[in-house]
Amino acid sequence: MPKSYLITGGAGFIGLTFTKMMLKETDAQITVLDNLTYASRPLEIEALKKNGRFRFIKGDIYEKEDIEKVFYQK
Ligand SMILES: NC(=O)c1ccc[n+]([C@@H]2O[C@H](COP(=O)([O-])OP(=O)(O)OC[C@H]3O[C@@H](n4cnc5c(N)ncnc54)[C@H](O)[C@@H]3O)[C@@H](O)[C@H]2O)c1
Repeated sequence: MPKSYLITGGAGFIGLTFTKMMLKETDAQITVLDNLTYASRPLEIEALKKNGRFRFIKGDIYEKEDIEKVFYQK
């Protein structure tokens, strides 16, 4: 069974690079949680949504409700 990873800040410089590498070099399921600040790259996130192993959740790591989405939102 493929592993699942949660990458917080995955729409930013380091997280996005890591996310793309994981999608390319593994068969892992990737969830990115990011609140899309000025530092993020939303167009690149949109492009990644075509990948069936990628899931994006817009949220803040300080907000309990947003973290819960990681576990309960499809
Ligand atoms: N071209 C370049 O060489 C280049 C470009 C950008 C950054 N950098 C370097 O990369 C490093 C920073 O990269 P990074 O990826 O750590 O930071 P980043 O600022 O690029 O990305 C952080 C990400 O975290 C998200 N985020 C911030 N607070 C959040 C919160 N509370 N909840 C959810 N998401 C949140 C932001 O929306 C953003 O997408 C620095 O050393 C910087 O100098 C280099």
